[in-house]
Amino acid sequence: MQDQLESIYQQALHDMEGVRDAEALQAWESQYLGRKGQLTLMLRQTGQLPPEARAGFGKRANEIKEALQSLHLEREEAIRQAELARSLEEGAIDVTLPGRTQAMGGLHPSTRTLRRIQQIWADMGFQVYRSRDVELDEVNFTLLNMPPHHPARDMQDTFYTTQPDIILRTHTSGGQIRAMREFGEDGTQPIRVILPGMCYRYEQISTRSEIQFHQVEGLAIGKGIRMSDLKGTITEFARRLYGEHADVRFRASYFPFTEPSMEVDVQCFLCEGHGCSVCKRTGWLEIMGCGMVHPVVLQNGGYDPNEWSGFAFGMGPERITMLKNGIEDIRYFWGNDLRILEQF
Ligand code: PHE
Repeated sequence: MQDQLESIYQQALHDMEGVRDAEALQAWESQYLGRKGQLTLMLRQTGQLPPEARAGFGKRANEIKEALQSLHLEREEAIRQAELARSLEEGAIDVTLPGRTQAMGGLHPSTRTLRRIQQIWADMGFQVYRSRDVELDEVNFTLLNMPPHHPARDMQDTFYTTQPDIILRTHTSGGQIRAMREFGEDGTQPIRVILPGMCYRYEQISTRSEIQFHQVEGLAIGKGIRMSDLKGTITEFARRLYGEHADVRFRASYFPFTEPSMEVDVQCFLCEGHGCSVCKRTGWLEIMGCGMVHPVVLQNGGYDPNEWSGFAFGMGPERITMLKNGIEDIRYFWGNDLRILEQF
């Protein structure tokens, strides 16, 4: 048996020399070291030897087993290296292939427009004031010269909460009151702020109206501020947003919190005023509402309307983005459809 053991060992060493790949290695392993391998069977027969021979045989058999196991490990590593070298040589990694681009996140189109608008107003000396989304009915309506039952309240269908006097703001104009009360120091300080934020209206969702949308409100309070200041400032803003040659016009309108009130149109930048489907053949696009702050509103903000005056405006970044990019459905903004969002 001792001789048989040694010859198995020699045979295993010899066979290993011919092992070149993982498959052959596997076969070698099961032939010698596996559950039914020759060495394993030998070890199992130890018990048949006369007792005095067992220890010596067992010791030698285990030595051989360990030697073959480490030989197996060595060869396994060598085969792995050889395969790697071969795959490199065969060009399995082609370094001339273009890389795979990583999918990158981006800013939402509304955020982009909002930032652009904020930058322009910041350059003109307007500071950002964040008012609240959940607002008092009093601030959103009453203090803006819309007492309960005022017909103008119907222009903005409102989300109410379970508390009768707390609503979701329907526009950012209520922030005018908060900004005046916070920054005005009892009506003694001038103000120049913009108020960006989300607004909510209980409306039938359609291509043109969503139940939530952004507005950017603006407010300037000072002594001797006149309508020419409003017109000049808005015109400058439009030129910075739409380009130096952008033409604007002011149309008389009505808001309870401004007097006089106007709507601002910019010349259609798609057809340059000739008339197209986006401007509905008028050559003009409406971009905001504005006006001189109503004396009642000034008073509610803590200012004496005999000494102080101001202007206010409000615009919708989604609408501006739609016009600019030919987006025809406002529902795309909160639809989270990557096919839309990836285009920006
Ligand atoms: N708050 C008005 C709206 O939601 C817009 C506006 C703001 C008009 C400021 C005049 C002055 O339509």
